[in-house]
Amino acid sequence: MQITAQNWPYPRWVAHRGAGKLAPENTLASFRLGAQHGYRMFECDVKLSADGVPFLLHDDTLERTSSGKGLGGDHAWGALAQLDAGSWHSRSYAGETIATLDNVAAFCLRNSYFLNIEIKPTPGVERLTGEAVAHHASRLWRGHAIPPLLSSFSLESLQGAHTAQPALPRGLLLDELWDGWLEAAQQLGCVAVICNHLLWNADTVGQVKAAGMRTLSYTVNDADAAQRLIGLETDGIITDRVDQFSPAG
Ligand code: G3P
Ligand code: MG
Repeated sequence: MQITAQNWPYPRWVAHRGAGKLAPENTLASFRLGAQHGYRMFECDVKLSADGVPFLLHDDTLERTSSGKGLGGDHAWGALAQLDAGSWHSRSYAGETIATLDNVAAFCLRNSYFLNIEIKPTPGVERLTGEAVAHHASRLWRGHAIPPLLSSFSLESLQGAHTAQPALPRGLLLDELWDGWLEAAQQLGCVAVICNHLLWNADTVGQVKAAGMRTLSYTVNDADAAQRLIGLETDGIITDRVDQFSPAG
C-alpha cells in the first residue's frame, strides 16, 4: 500500500517510545504495556550498532536507560544485547533487554500494530542510518499491507531513507520552524510533518495540508493540548500518557 495524505491508514493516537514513561522506554515490555492500554500504533527511536544492527535507543549514549556506558553506536550488537535496559526504570523490569528493530517488527506484525520508526542516528552517521533503517524496514515489512512510517529530525537521514527505499512513507520531525521547513518536507517527499505540538496553529496546519501532507504532534501529555490539536483537525498525537488518553478518541 502506497501511503499518501489521502491514503492514510494510521490511527490518531501513538504511544511514545512504547508506553511513554510507564515502562522502560523503547523496550518490548514498553510496547506490551502500551498495547495493554489499547494502543495500536507505537513510536520508537532507532539507531545502528557498530556492526550495523538497527536497535532501539533514544539517547546517543547508554547511561540513562541501560547498564552500558558510552555511545550506543560504538558497541557491536553482541555487547548491547547483554545490557540491562530495565533496572534504571524500576525493579520489576530488571533484566529487560534492549530491543532490535527486528524484535519490534515481529511484535507489531504479529499483532497488526502500526509503527512509527524515528531514525535517531548517532552523530556522524546520519545518512547511513537512514539508508540502513529503510532497507531493514522494507525487508521486515515485505508482503505486509501497511508499512511503518519513518521519521527523523535529520534531513540527511530522511534523504538516505528516501534514496534507499522511496516507497516507504516519511515524516519530517520539527522542534522549531526553521527557514525552509515546508519546502524541505516537500523535497524529501514526506507524507507528514510531525511537530512539537506547540508549533501547530491554524496557519501552520493550513500550510501543511495545502502542501498535501498530514499533521502529527509530539509529545502531548496534557488534555487541553490534545483537545486543541483535535480542534485544529490535526491527524496524529504521540503521547507518553497511554494511561490517560483513550486511543479510541
Ligand atoms: O518522534 C517523536 C518524538 O519522539 C521526537 O522526540 O526526543 O522524544 O525522540 P524524542
Ligand atoms: Mg522519538
